Amino acid sequence: MNDVRILMVCLGNICRSPIAEGVLRDHLDRIGINARVDSCGTSDWHEGEAPDKRAIQACEHYGLDISNQRSRPVTKTDFDVFDYIFAMDENNYNDLMALTENETHRQKLHLYLEFAEVTTRRAVPDPYYGTITDFFEVYTLLDEASARVAQKIQAGIKEV
Ligand code: 4NP
Repeated sequence: MNDVRILMVCLGNICRSPIAEGVLRDHLDRIGINARVDSCGTSDWHEGEAPDKRAIQACEHYGLDISNQRSRPVTKTDFDVFDYIFAMDENNYNDLMALTENETHRQKLHLYLEFAEVTTRRAVPDPYYGTITDFFEVYTLLDEASARVAQKIQAGIKEV
């Protein structure tokens, strides 16, 4: 059984949330938290596909292999299964909020950078129509945020 279950969500589940999944899992592993980390999209446009080649490449550069991940759309059940549901941007947040059915669901949902207390940005920019440089920027942003989130989650587990 996992101590904590975390779901990362973006639009296509091939760029931002697969990187977020890989990076947060790595941070949690390093501090010994037994977590289930998964990711999905608010759309089913890329269902069954591997992450974007540029996302794989940016992660590979830092020694993370995310190539085994496969895109899937979010489901209502996810709100019962996961403890934290993290949206990469405001559109993802609003689409997810529309799926919630009760206060417990709503309390699980956060904008990732807001939860991480990253003050420079509110949203992880969508790199899909960008270049490899945009993917590296997304990686750096998610790495900074995930270091903070891993600490916060560790503190939360200790409180219980
Ligand atoms: P992601 O990026 O939400 O970070 O996975 C996108 C992937 C695909 C599309 C848009 C954004 N698309 O339009 O297909």
